[in-house]
Amino acid sequence: MTAPPSAYKIVDIPEPYADVIKRHGVEGKFVEGEESPWVPFGDNAAIRHLAFDVRNNIYSNILWIKSPGVIGTHRHRGTVVMLCLEGSVRYLEYDWVAGPGDFIYETPGETHTLVTDHPDGVKLFGWLQGPIEFYDENANFLETLDVWWYINHYESYCREHNIPINKQLYL
Ligand SMILES: [Fe+2]
Repeated sequence: MTAPPSAYKIVDIPEPYADVIKRHGVEGKFVEGEESPWVPFGDNAAIRHLAFDVRNNIYSNILWIKSPGVIGTHRHRGTVVMLCLEGSVRYLEYDWVAGPGDFIYETPGETHTLVTDHPDGVKLFGWLQGPIEFYDENANFLETLDVWWYINHYESYCREHNIPINKQLYL
């Protein structure tokens, strides 16, 4: 294919397993950004939750660090895909700086310390899988963040602020 089809119409394509999909398929989701609140994450950051997949321990969100700051050293046990939307971000362990449009891919076993030096901080879209283990500045284990942590973070805030739980976030 040199170019995708361009007919401006819905095409009823054949599907031999339509019945199976109807019985077992899961509908896709749509989340309007503004519908999901910014939930505080410490004093200088907030998380806009976008998706929770409890079967695969996957969670998606936008992490917003509002001014120059640090998200402490952590270890990934899964894979992370991130896209920088605004501002800039880097890790103390690496020599690159990500700006708007830059793509970040993190793998199980990676350990690093996230920093934004940008006056406006950073907004990072993330699609994260697996546990993240956080440590303090003396290398003492603090806490594991996983899909259950993220769901609790979202739902606790909604309960406290009388915000209805958005079912679209649960894949
Ligand atoms: Fe990370």
